[in-house]
Amino acid sequence: MLVKAGPTEEPIDPVRFVGNRSSGKMGYAVAAAAARAGADVTLVSGPVALATPPGVRRLDVRTAKSMLEAVQQETDGTDVFISTAAVADYAPREQAAQKIKKSAETLTLELVRNPDILATVTGRKRRPFCVGFAAETENVVANARAKLEAKKLDLICANLVGDEHAFGRDDNALTAIGASDENDLGHGTKHELAVRLIELIAHRLESQA
Ligand code: PMT
Repeated sequence: MLVKAGPTEEPIDPVRFVGNRSSGKMGYAVAAAAARAGADVTLVSGPVALATPPGVRRLDVRTAKSMLEAVQQETDGTDVFISTAAVADYAPREQAAQKIKKSAETLTLELVRNPDILATVTGRKRRPFCVGFAAETENVVANARAKLEAKKLDLICANLVGDEHAFGRDDNALTAIGASDENDLGHGTKHELAVRLIELIAHRLESQA
């Protein structure tokens, strides 16, 4: 099983980056639950302050591009890919070699689109069972379902995000959405939800076999 977790950091200059509020807790809980269930787990991780779960092989990356490279190297031989990471959709076009000095009153950064890592994996001829996550601030289920279809996923876990939800917290609430069904995994600790998700994936794989 391949899990990617945490944020990516897209450098602006040697001291600043474009990033997001993902702590990695959800993805690390998924990797831990999968390893406890007996899976051979590789965790591709953005920069987070978390310990590697027991029995998990961890590869550290920083940017979306380095996350893509690590995922591409690990995809062959993977049965299940779970994409919990909050990948930056855009990165600064240029990285300044030196710290940008404060001078003008305004500063404009030009951002360019990052590759979609998950879509790269689902676009393969031989692909693993692919599970995405959708971080939404509104229309959670409808927006997640659109991502399920656009990225050709087997399953997507929708969660509401915001100041009081999901990012950085120990708890979360997830709805797992497939092509023709919806499973409310409920509210709980990220570890509890991760166990429920791994059980659901195991049932799906059993019914496909
Ligand atoms: O890390 P925590 O603090 O515990 O918070 C958990 C979480 C909120 C980050 C997690 O539960 C979550 O929702 N992760 C997905 C966040 C996200 O980026 O969602 P998205 O809707 O922007 O992306 C949809 C899917 O495409 C995700 O599986 C994402 O990993 C993937 N993606 C997105 C962009 C991109 N360039 N490459 C991708 O692979």
